[in-house]
Amino acid sequence: MLQFIERALGGDLPELAKDPLGMFTRLAREGSGVVPLRIGPRRGHLVSDPERIRHVLLENASHYDKDTPGFRAVRVALGNGLLTSSGDFWKRQRRIAQPSFHGENLRRFAPIFSRLANACAEQWATQHRAGQPIDAGTDMMKATLSGVAEALFGEDLSSEAAEINRAFPPILEELAHRTHSPVLVPLWIPSPRNRRLNAALGTIQGIVDSMIQKRRGRLEAIAAEPSVRRDLLSSLMLAKDEETGESMSDQQLHDEVMTLLIAGHETTANALAWVWYLLDRNPEEQECLRDELTAVTGNRPPTAEDLPHLKRLRMVFLEALRLYPPVWLFDRRALAADRLGETEIRPGDLVIFCPYAVHRVESLWPDPEVFRPERFEPGHEQQKHKFAYLPFGAGPRMCMGMGFAMMESMILLGTLIQRFRTRLWTPDRIQPRAQVTLRPDQPVLLRLEAL
Ligand code: HEM
Repeated sequence: MLQFIERALGGDLPELAKDPLGMFTRLAREGSGVVPLRIGPRRGHLVSDPERIRHVLLENASHYDKDTPGFRAVRVALGNGLLTSSGDFWKRQRRIAQPSFHGENLRRFAPIFSRLANACAEQWATQHRAGQPIDAGTDMMKATLSGVAEALFGEDLSSEAAEINRAFPPILEELAHRTHSPVLVPLWIPSPRNRRLNAALGTIQGIVDSMIQKRRGRLEAIAAEPSVRRDLLSSLMLAKDEETGESMSDQQLHDEVMTLLIAGHETTANALAWVWYLLDRNPEEQECLRDELTAVTGNRPPTAEDLPHLKRLRMVFLEALRLYPPVWLFDRRALAADRLGETEIRPGDLVIFCPYAVHRVESLWPDPEVFRPERFEPGHEQQKHKFAYLPFGAGPRMCMGMGFAMMESMILLGTLIQRFRTRLWTPDRIQPRAQVTLRPDQPVLLRLEAL
């Protein structure tokens, strides 16, 4: 019965739910750059033409917001934080948070990433000696969760990491279900799905709340000491609204911390898991990266100062993000009438971007399925259309953590590649699974060879 109602209300939703990556890729390749879709009762448009993408995400960005079914589903977990909010509220939050992600503030995170990378390398060495497989996906989640917690919130969450990682799969599965399904059971009804989701959310929310409470106890001392550098958590807690002079409410704080903790680690960890998979498929690339590391750093682990010289490592990471963009889909709601070429956009329409599909359009990316880091050779980058590459989005809502993610990923990868040659434990083909983020459909288990 439910299936029948979903089909009646769902328009293109049932096919989308079955094979979203296949369907979006086919539409992006065959369509003219703007393809009509029916999303439940609403009109949708899949936009894959870089000029139209630029129009919506940059030039006319203020005519679109994030009040969409996709972001509404994400809001169930993250609340109304930087990723999901819109308008003046979003602008103010971004102004407060942004300085933590630039210049000297960003560079200060490098030693934290190096320490976490070395700890991961030590753990890999121990498991290698014991003849155990390495679960690269889980280890990348642990490292990136600790990275964001320590860098942004000054907290050591290593003992909570296993608990958080266990809570994640049911949340992601439920959010994906909520995005695709037009018929939703309200959260307060204790259905089996809701009970599972609420229990998992409760675990993470409890950890976030205790982090905020602990900081409250020290806040007065931090505020009284202007010479002490404030981390992002203190900045958020001490910020005052320019007009009203009010601080953020507990709910706002909670939502921002949840957003940064989750958006700031899950995406990067998935990107890294895909790099380990691609390095198994392209073993000669691993040797090439090791040669570069040796030439740049000798035998010491890479630091922030080395990163501009690790050009090949950067190219490999960017190519992995092209083939497997963790944020494989995002959307906007039109606030006013607009026009994309021949297509009329009405207020309330959804405009949908699928980086996974745009990155596979032959005319934009020749031989799109082939792993070819040379595409990102400095110089080549300028030739390609900027809005044909969307792993971090574009325009004013572009990922705030891009520099953070690049630095953390390159330090982690560089440190580990320098010490180990890796192959998959079993040579299975791993497929992408399109949930809220693009995850491998099975654990990425590695066999190591110590160097
Ligand atoms: C490889 C890793 C990452 C990828 C692929 C990624 C991808 C994205 C994308 C595509 C968006 C834009 C979504 C939209 O336009 O609707 C976004 C937004 C955002 N990301 Fe990331 N992200 C990554 C890492 C991070 C990290 C490390 C942080 C923080 C520590 C972070 C924080 C955010 C925030 C706060 C936003 C919302 C920005 C705004 O709307 O003002 N991300 N990310």
